[in-house]
Amino acid sequence: MKPRKIKDHILTFGAVDWDRRLFDSLIPLPDGTSYNSYLVRGSEKTALIDTVDPTKSEILLENLRGVADLDYVVAHHGEQDHSGSIPAVLEKYPKARVVCSPKAKGILVDLLAIPQDKFVTFEDGQTLSLGGLTLEFIHTPWVHWPETMVTYLREDKILFSCDFFGSHLAQSDLFVVDEGRVYEAAKRYFAEIMMPFRTAIQKNMERIKDLKIEMIAPSHGPLYDCPEFIMDAYREWISDKPKNSAVVAYVSMHGSTETMISRLVAALAERGVEVWQFNLADIDIGKLAIALVDAATIVLGTPAVHVGPHPKVAYAAFLANALRPKLKFASIIGSYGWGQKIVEQIAVMIPNLKVEVLAPVICRGLPREADFVALDKLADSIAQKHKELGLMSQG
Ligand code: FEO
Repeated sequence: MKPRKIKDHILTFGAVDWDRRLFDSLIPLPDGTSYNSYLVRGSEKTALIDTVDPTKSEILLENLRGVADLDYVVAHHGEQDHSGSIPAVLEKYPKARVVCSPKAKGILVDLLAIPQDKFVTFEDGQTLSLGGLTLEFIHTPWVHWPETMVTYLREDKILFSCDFFGSHLAQSDLFVVDEGRVYEAAKRYFAEIMMPFRTAIQKNMERIKDLKIEMIAPSHGPLYDCPEFIMDAYREWISDKPKNSAVVAYVSMHGSTETMISRLVAALAERGVEVWQFNLADIDIGKLAIALVDAATIVLGTPAVHVGPHPKVAYAAFLANALRPKLKFASIIGSYGWGQKIVEQIAVMIPNLKVEVLAPVICRGLPREADFVALDKLADSIAQKHKELGLMSQG
């Protein structure tokens, strides 16, 4: 994309990555992404806010072709999808200085070998005047690295938020057009990147709540000209209260575990619990992560593989543990042929999940009547727990 105007003195300079399908060699990007960079011109100084992934450096440099002088490169965050083109920008503008938090300086020196004398660090709340435009730097640690900060442009009431409020979404429009589409992409982004730092984000939301924000300009995805849309969504996602929702994720090899899952899912639905069922044999893990944002309960279903859980279930357990959702309850169901230590092995994989474990249901071979009764009791127990937490109406 060519540079586009947000205001007379602010241009977007980033790159849309329509074809990227994986981030961090882990996160599926069904809708691509963008690396947004912004050029802000004051009457005296010019600043570039964030750069782009190094795979797109050429686009950024092409966009900078008409920019004779650059005084500052604001680096909100050390991760290379925003910082990776800073060396190329500094090569073009040797007098430019990198503006960042003191913690970011150390990270950028180590990750990108930027010389120490290229930096000007700013403490939380310090400002930088570009001439008629004031950049206020607000440290927002753990959104989602320790050095992260955002910039508030006081005169225009724009919050440049980097990953905060971002979405992995490639689109040709600059601003949000389809709120439903952006909501899903931003929730996926939150689930995979931000959810482990939910409590830190609660504090950072408090820090920006008194700013008058007319526009949020993130470094991924479309800009928000109605910021309340994404701020309301974040308030819901970071809240401590889950929803009346259960994630049921499983693998079945010969059908027994699948039969158990079908019984449990039907029983939960009958009792008024919303269920998200995922077959882990072939799954977009982003969908699982999205469901975990709101869920109160997770049930993992697995056959025994060499006595332990199926490796794909172990992966899901490990991922859920890393993402630290606000789950309150967990259980395990499954089937084995000749021996199993499924429950013990999964239990040690999820120390971060502060959950109450509800009675597992493990059977040998095909589930029988007693197993179906146990599954119905598990559904009773989940529904009752949700009621006790006030997640569903008492009935
Ligand atoms: Fe978009 Fe944490 O980088």
